[in-house]
Amino acid sequence: MSASHPPGVSPFKSDILKGQVALVTGGGSGIGFEISCQLGLHGAAVAITGRRQPVLDSAVEAFCSEGINAIGIQGDVRKNQDCERWVEETCAKLGGLDILVNCAAGNFLASAEEISVNGFRTVMEIDTIGTFAMSRAAFPAMRQRGGGRVVNISATLHYGATWWQAHASAAKAAVDSLTRSLALEWGAFGVCVNGIAPGPTGGTAGLSKLAGVDASEDDVNALVASTVPLGKVGSKWDIAIAAVFLCSSAARHLTGDTLVVDGAAWMWREPAVPRKMVSKASRGVEAKSRALGVAPAQRSKL
Ligand code: COA
Repeated sequence: MSASHPPGVSPFKSDILKGQVALVTGGGSGIGFEISCQLGLHGAAVAITGRRQPVLDSAVEAFCSEGINAIGIQGDVRKNQDCERWVEETCAKLGGLDILVNCAAGNFLASAEEISVNGFRTVMEIDTIGTFAMSRAAFPAMRQRGGGRVVNISATLHYGATWWQAHASAAKAAVDSLTRSLALEWGAFGVCVNGIAPGPTGGTAGLSKLAGVDASEDDVNALVASTVPLGKVGSKWDIAIAAVFLCSSAARHLTGDTLVVDGAAWMWREPAVPRKMVSKASRGVEAKSRALGVAPAQRSKL
């Protein structure tokens, strides 16, 4: 795997995170990989964690080839002792901990009547309990440094409701709640806790698994892009650069919030009246009411 080069040029100086140490769960692949890479390219030393050692090894190799000080530590976010060990090892090898990105997540499409209770619990354990366990494990090290940043990677699934995603919607709703609770409790220690809610993001397991169609990546992207107001699926870089912002001094007074980075995709729905018909339809209705002789004051009450 090679470090992916961003579709955009960073608007930030390359040393804005110099001297910081970041730990990214799920940092060996997908969005976690790109976040780790961008934190590193902006000066942070990075520890990545994940279940698959070969994935971690190849990611660390890619980061090191970019001049990033990186280590990989294997384990499972569902095991509390692994979370504590990751923090200990990061502090021992990289000298402390300033930034935690909770990116490890599990998901699949499943109808509520088909998913087993264990399947539901598995996603809750990875996404929600994993986020809490990691944040709790990281807090003492951040407190010792006089502050830190926690970034929880969330979703927009639960803003309304999303078909076949009862498990992940519940898990991410709880993550957003944790973002606010931890921000409230840890602000006094200089720890800012925020979230990022990505929308459809190109080149991720999320998009290929959840689009629910067996098609090429380009076809999936085109299909999904037609439902995004900005007209395209986001890139991993879009999410990663938002994480760099949240970890930078520019966001020093920002806590308890979740940035939605989705091109307004979660708001999208087919318009009831197509754009080119709006003016004609609206003026037609207006003309009819005028023709009926309704007074302007009464018209406005209609
Ligand atoms: N549909 C319904 N249930 C599913 C499922 C699917 N596609 N995939 C897994 N499950 C259920 C299993 O049946 C099992 O429940 P059971 O014991 O009642 O049978 C439970 O989930 C755990 O599955 P298991 O395969 O043992 O867990 P795992 O730890 O190997 O995998 C997952 C965890 C399920 C989250 C897996 O999809 C994963 O780790 N994916 C990688 C990360 C990822 O997908 N990220 C995308 C983020 S959007």
